[in-house]
Amino acid sequence: MSKKSSHTRDLFVSKFGVIAAAAGSAVGLGNIWKFPYITGIYGGGAFLFVYLGFIVLIGLPVMLSEFAIGRRSRSNAFGAFKKLAPGSSWKYVGMLGVAAAFMILAFYGVVAGWSIDYIVKALSNSFASKTPGELESLFINFTELPLIPVLYQLFFMVLTMAIVIVGVKDGIEKYAKFLMPLLVVIIIVLGIRAITLNGASEGLKFLFYPDFSKLTAEGVLSALGHAFFSLSLGMGTLITYGSYINDKNNLSKTAVQVTLADTVIAILAGIAIFPAVFAFGIEPGKGPGLVFITLPNVFQQMPGGYFFSILFFLLLTVAALTSSISILEVVVAYFKEELKIKRKTATIISTVLISIVGVFCSLSMGILGDYKLFDLNFFDLLDWISANMLLPLGGLFISLFVGWYLGKDLVQNELSKGSLVIKSLLNVFIFLVRFIAPAAIAIVFLNGIGLLRFG
Ligand code: TRP
Repeated sequence: MSKKSSHTRDLFVSKFGVIAAAAGSAVGLGNIWKFPYITGIYGGGAFLFVYLGFIVLIGLPVMLSEFAIGRRSRSNAFGAFKKLAPGSSWKYVGMLGVAAAFMILAFYGVVAGWSIDYIVKALSNSFASKTPGELESLFINFTELPLIPVLYQLFFMVLTMAIVIVGVKDGIEKYAKFLMPLLVVIIIVLGIRAITLNGASEGLKFLFYPDFSKLTAEGVLSALGHAFFSLSLGMGTLITYGSYINDKNNLSKTAVQVTLADTVIAILAGIAIFPAVFAFGIEPGKGPGLVFITLPNVFQQMPGGYFFSILFFLLLTVAALTSSISILEVVVAYFKEELKIKRKTATIISTVLISIVGVFCSLSMGILGDYKLFDLNFFDLLDWISANMLLPLGGLFISLFVGWYLGKDLVQNELSKGSLVIKSLLNVFIFLVRFIAPAAIAIVFLNGIGLLRFG
């Protein structure tokens, strides 16, 4: 799916390849693990409503901006700013992205490790005839262990490293192309089983009925942070992928398709989880264990549940892998191009450093759980800082860069490659990246951390 162009940069050949790679990055633990658990914490429907608003008004324009910056500069996230804005400070936006990537991958690997352990648990039929309470203990007792979760996490990091060394584009995308649709099918099957459980309607009501009285300033900030996290925005992942996109490709259409796929999959995951949460009497605000505790209950209650559970955690791990490689790639590209280290060495060094930080994330679920800052353990702290601070900040700068620095003519020129640009839509886009996205991000952020208070 990639070919060398005459100037030796890789390019995606097929339009589907572009979408598969970008969607592979976007769809991951964010959709299936994080979206349901934070929706549960922040009260359901109203959170979903605000999240969807941010996806359309901020996520989509920032994604298009990242693609445009990447294709225009044909270089990695850091180099892109150096090339398009030589001698300026914009390159530090790239640096911010490297820091975010580092933190995200540290805890991402922990959760992916849980998913691998759950493949093993599924294989050994460990969910059978357990009560919801026992399934909860199963999760908690496991994640509190000092050694086993760390080993699975390191195993996942090695897999990620191996793929990034061998080359992201040639191998994994081929598999992602049919494994991801399969994951979607399984989530739909799970959803059907979940909504036919006794008491399921409460869960659908929780997810879709917006009760705005439950919404807090922190909830709104988390919705914004998660819009960035789930779409892989704000740290240059999609700048890098954009740099591989062919000039014949229609960037706007690609951005809409990726955004749509990512959002639909998150909602499907919600439909599979919340009806079951209520049917089994689980607390929706349970936190990071929500998916791992809830779904085994559903597997028990369905024909072929044994096979579905194996397949589900296997595909979840693959989905995590197609995302984790896109996160590591940002760090590697920086090490390689800015510090002039060979690709293989850069990949190994960054994986080792990230894994060390990741081990502390894993341990903070158990033996290091008492060390807290702002009432968050290390795992939650890295998640919070990266998703709710660094990504929105990155998104703010990216939208300002496209709206004000690059400007309308250049953007029009870039977007009109491979497609007809509709004037009115272009104007809407420019308006969004110039004013709406930066203002909304600034307000939501200041409000969320309590520096500004609305209501
Ligand atoms: N979007 C992925 C998910 O939902 C995670 C991810 C991949 C990511 N690349 C990223 C998050 C870049 C933020 C920025 O699981």
